Amino acid sequence: MILLNDFRRQWADTGGAAMDAMAKVGASGWYVLGEQVKRFEQDLAHWWGVEQAIGVANGLDAIELALKALGCGPGDFVLTSPISAFATPLAITKLGAQPVFCDADESGQVDLAACRRTLEQRPEIRYFVPVHLFGQCLDLDELDRLRDDFQLGLVEDCAQSIGARFLGRPCGTAGQYAATSFYPTKNLGAMGDGGAVLTNSEAAALPVRQLRDYGQTAKYRHDLLGYNSRLDELQAAILAHAYLPWLTQWTLRRRAIAAEYLTGITNPAIRCVPVPPGSEGVWHLFPVLVQPHRKEAAMAHFKAAEVATGEHYPLALVEQKALAHLAGKWGSGCARAQHFCHAEISLPIHPYLTDAEVRQVIDAANGWQG
Ligand SMILES: Cc1ncc(COP(=O)(O)O)c(C=O)c1O
Repeated sequence: MILLNDFRRQWADTGGAAMDAMAKVGASGWYVLGEQVKRFEQDLAHWWGVEQAIGVANGLDAIELALKALGCGPGDFVLTSPISAFATPLAITKLGAQPVFCDADESGQVDLAACRRTLEQRPEIRYFVPVHLFGQCLDLDELDRLRDDFQLGLVEDCAQSIGARFLGRPCGTAGQYAATSFYPTKNLGAMGDGGAVLTNSEAAALPVRQLRDYGQTAKYRHDLLGYNSRLDELQAAILAHAYLPWLTQWTLRRRAIAAEYLTGITNPAIRCVPVPPGSEGVWHLFPVLVQPHRKEAAMAHFKAAEVATGEHYPLALVEQKALAHLAGKWGSGCARAQHFCHAEISLPIHPYLTDAEVRQVIDAANGWQG
């Protein structure tokens, strides 16, 4: 079976360095917020092309801490994407704020023209968490304009888009903050949970550093009500020494596989999702669209061809029960997002796929009878 992720193959390349990294932490005798977190934060910021990275416990916390540092709290309204991991709206609701969903465009990304219209109609919206979904990059110039035109607190959700660019500019550089995740399946995944907040200003980094560690401004001095959201030394060491050094190569491999799929999949019953204009994606996922009523059958067809598939995501966020109490508050009901989710299947696109496996995925796609 061709898997969606194959960490055992990855371990053959990274296991030695990961074990050395763990030994380094063990021998250091320092396990929380030490040299390894500092080193990883520096390496990550440099790789990303931003000034500051702050390691936190996971991607969910990264979004919440960044929003909180911008002053978001109970009663606030936060515009966001209609298709994402549940963590995106959860971070908003955990602060007591309310997500406002705008509909998706044909690529499944939040429709920035619809966002502008919503912001014009609803001046009470002061925060925006756009998601760079599937590893693509939204139009950063338009995000700049929205942020300035509406004086928004902007946190870009880059959990799936580490390394993605818009016309050469790194994702995560339009907002005051970007948030990312090192959940194992991410393009840069740890051996457990992890996340980071990115920003271009030292002054903006400071409150996030304080918030992740109980709001301490100095040892045992708490000026803020913070969190326990620290990235472990172990995860930081593994990321810095064993995985980050591979990320450029892994990203290039994902791009090469995506290019093969985009030219090789010619079956009109399996539509590749269009790449957003200007996006230089990192292909966290490779979504395709089928007839919604044939989705289950299509997934069974791939399974029979020994190809695992995923759904990202089976429901639009407006359809999630946990958010039902907000139903009716976002206007359109995000019809396009719902249709997209009901039609979407993800094909395997991890960097350890062999050329023969890529061919097998393409053949399976072209063999689907619709
Ligand atoms: C778009 C998006 N945002 C946020 C998250 C949350 O990250 P984590 O699982 O590390 O909390 C994820 C990953 O699950 C994600 O895909």
